[in-house]
Amino acid sequence: MNRPTTLAKKLYVKTYGCQMNVYDSARMADVLAPLGYANTDSPEEADMVILNTCHIREKAAEKVFSELGRLKSLKRRKEDGGGRLILAVAGCVAQAEGEEILRRAPYVDIVLGPQTYHRLPEMVAKASRAAGSVLDTEFPAEPKFDHLPESRAEGFSAFLSVQEGCDKFCSFCVVPYTRGAEYSRPAGAVLAEARRLASQGAVEITLLGQNVNGYHGEAPASSHAAASEWGLGRLIRALAEIEGLERIRYTTSHPRDMDGELIAAHGEVPGLMPFLHLPVQAGSDRILEAMNRRHDRDFYLDLVGRLKEARADLALSSDFIVGFPGETDADFAETLDLVRRVGFVQTYSFKYSPRPGTPAAAIEHQVPERVKEARLAELQALLTELTTDFNRRSVGRVMPVLFDRPGRHPGQIIGRSPYMQPIHVEGADTFMGQVVPVRITGVHPNSLAGEVSPGGGARPQGEKAYA
Ligand code: 5AD
Ligand code: SF4
Repeated sequence: MNRPTTLAKKLYVKTYGCQMNVYDSARMADVLAPLGYANTDSPEEADMVILNTCHIREKAAEKVFSELGRLKSLKRRKEDGGGRLILAVAGCVAQAEGEEILRRAPYVDIVLGPQTYHRLPEMVAKASRAAGSVLDTEFPAEPKFDHLPESRAEGFSAFLSVQEGCDKFCSFCVVPYTRGAEYSRPAGAVLAEARRLASQGAVEITLLGQNVNGYHGEAPASSHAAASEWGLGRLIRALAEIEGLERIRYTTSHPRDMDGELIAAHGEVPGLMPFLHLPVQAGSDRILEAMNRRHDRDFYLDLVGRLKEARADLALSSDFIVGFPGETDADFAETLDLVRRVGFVQTYSFKYSPRPGTPAAAIEHQVPERVKEARLAELQALLTELTTDFNRRSVGRVMPVLFDRPGRHPGQIIGRSPYMQPIHVEGADTFMGQVVPVRITGVHPNSLAGEVSPGGGARPQGEKAYA
């Protein structure tokens, strides 16, 4: 962009939490670009710092407050030197604890929620003009998506937000309060964004939403089907038609919203990756009920069976909470049992963290910290065993790998298998941005080694995998 250099300003965004926040951070940078802000990796040289926060567990919020402490000194140093640093706190901590942030850290200039960042330019203008802080944590009636500038693909793999908010109200979770009610973007807008990302070089798209498979967006005007709304399965079928898009993923899903059309899409859309993040949280019916998950273990196991029937090579990943109030050793044993039965290949497990305002925080029988710790260690040991086992079993297999990053050594490149395993290959850097068959040759602690399979990489050198 041709702007006088004197107007160039630097923006440092630090992102906590989920992929949705990663997407939001990129969009905040897009919103601020017309004001002359360009990204920097260094808070020291920034004119504006945004902390895009996560409120899902206690530690996340506490990390924000300690980061704010460090930024306070930086801001003071800048001001002493006659400069200015605009400090903004965005995301779910801002939404839930906006007033508290301004009380504990009055030097913060802007507090904004996840639904208002399209208004950042006005907030920055206000904060630059006047003393005092700007607080905007409304849930505007008009969805922010209609007011955001076009997104840009920055690599071969892009995120695309299709749904936000959650109406499930699991009893431990703050998301329905911080992100608000479920909202699905119209399918036409999603397809247009996906086409643009593909034309800019994205080969893979990950559809994002707090409850992404609850997606029910307005059908495109051109759609001849009788349905006025599209579910996620229908949307994925349409996305798979876009030229250049070779891989589709989505996250995060709720077992209850896994409908027949979406399950069928797993069997019928080759570009839909055979890897599904499907949080179960616990294996005991009693705990699932207390969590208000609206499914029991049999429902989950049956669902996994139906998914694998549709796509035999499907692998699952999941989230778990240990030490939910009232969880006994017997309940926890059921979680371990469920984990073994499903054989998850990747997982995220957390100690239950009481979130103020959620129903579970008020339950009397909180589990002692040392019990939570012991259970977490036991669960994580089992989960590591399963992941390691899956990685070992990958050796000798030929898998399509999307190469998207240079490796540490010259000529080395890194890509992802359908199961998100990082795979590095030597001397194949012409395959960057392509999906190439790779034979897995070895297992390292955090990645797999492979070699381009003979006959693989059939595309002539230099030819891109996208239009
Ligand atoms: N305590 C611990 N873990 C939680 N999660 C959500 N809320 C809590 C909480 N209060 C976990 C769930 C969810 C993931 C994103 O975070 O496992 O799926
Ligand atoms: Fe939170 Fe997910 Fe439950 Fe919604 S479905 S309340 S986001 S855990």
